[in-house]
Amino acid sequence: MDQQPAIVKTDGQDSFSSDLRYQSGFHNHFSSEALPGALPHGQSSPLLCPYGLYAEQVSGTSFTSPRKLNLRSWLYRIKPSVTHEPFKPLEPSHGRLVSEFNDSNSSTTPTQLRWRPVDIPEKPTDFVQGLYTVCGAGSSFLRHGFAIHMYTANKSMDNCAFCNADGDFLIVPQTGRLWITTECGRLQVSPGEIAVLPQGFRFAVDLPDGPSRGYVAEVFGTHFQLPDLGPIGANGLAAPRDFLVPTAWFEESIRPGYIIIQKFGGELFTAKQDFSPFNVVAWHGNYAPYMYDLTTFCPFNTVLVDHGDPSVNTVLTAPTDKPGVALLDFVIFPPRWLVAEHTFRPPYYHRNCMSEFMGLIYGGYEAKADGFVPGGASLHSCMTPHGPDTKTYEATIARGNEAGPHKISDTMAFMFESCLIPRICSWALESPLIDRDYYQCWIGLRSHFTGTRSNDKDGDIENGQKED
Ligand SMILES: [Fe+2]
Repeated sequence: MDQQPAIVKTDGQDSFSSDLRYQSGFHNHFSSEALPGALPHGQSSPLLCPYGLYAEQVSGTSFTSPRKLNLRSWLYRIKPSVTHEPFKPLEPSHGRLVSEFNDSNSSTTPTQLRWRPVDIPEKPTDFVQGLYTVCGAGSSFLRHGFAIHMYTANKSMDNCAFCNADGDFLIVPQTGRLWITTECGRLQVSPGEIAVLPQGFRFAVDLPDGPSRGYVAEVFGTHFQLPDLGPIGANGLAAPRDFLVPTAWFEESIRPGYIIIQKFGGELFTAKQDFSPFNVVAWHGNYAPYMYDLTTFCPFNTVLVDHGDPSVNTVLTAPTDKPGVALLDFVIFPPRWLVAEHTFRPPYYHRNCMSEFMGLIYGGYEAKADGFVPGGASLHSCMTPHGPDTKTYEATIARGNEAGPHKISDTMAFMFESCLIPRICSWALESPLIDRDYYQCWIGLRSHFTGTRSNDKDGDIENGQKED
């Protein structure tokens, strides 16, 4: 049985969601067994495992990574995952997944970019078929870089599982729940929640609601961590106990023609086997898929003056070797109170050495009165200016200093922020959904410069010249 109390979610009547059990914690050393006594005791790879299971280790970090960073799990399964025919390139090739960004598949522009939401396709499309890269940088081969993808889909994966050898997926559903079956167990992920599928785990995505859309961040060569809290202290932001990891769940079925789709260097390869890969009866370790409900995030914010930097709302960070410099931060803008006095409360006008990709799960975003809608996206690359649109600026100034406490409600925007400069895939740059008039949202920002301090009644100027 599970080695720690499981969190049971029984919010559905269907076979998948009526009996979902999770373990709680972030990168804990979990252990779970779907049959009593399936976990070996005192060792990980006995000559004969209970129930005649095979022991198989999945290493998410090098064997010799420091203990505090080392991630690995032991899976006890009916047949080992090596039991398949040779991999062959997927026919026809997918063609819109990139893991090594260069001149041949992507280009750069410092222009502010914004996209309207992609329509759900009419023809049958599953999660893998509907996944496409928008932008990214670096290389999965060199184990340094990231990719940002989006997906639109309308049908469940059928008799196949996906495995990403390139990096970790952080999936942000925007429309439609995902039923994700993994080797460690099952996850139900709804819009407003996220899932992380670490490099190498096999998983299948079912779509109980049909039409589905969302965002995916992929990181190469590192894994997501909880950010340090610094002077915030021991509590706040995303609490480790709110991360949920599946409990062991398996199926024994014979599945003739079952296909493993392996993403390897951005290309897809397929291998046939005759059984379900979800045949893990028990597992233990700290390397596992997990999910997180963004509404459990405990945001921090300024309580007197000025707009704090968005890093204060970091949920997860994929670090580089430089302290404080992220390969990819996942930052959210959840409902929260705005109380700052004599302060321009929306996000400040900004140029950033980091690059910022934003998406909107639901509601509106405080810096854009129009044009940035749920399911859409924007990209403001390294040192490209951005900030509130004209309407937002004028409305904020019109409210003046007496705005009083105000709660931003019913919204969930997010940002993927990277120290690497993204290259943009040609299909994203040429998409009919790109907003060619995005710049217009700022072009109307007019000068409010008067030559006199606005609060200076007798016209004295401290920092300017006054004409008599
Ligand atoms: Fe910014």
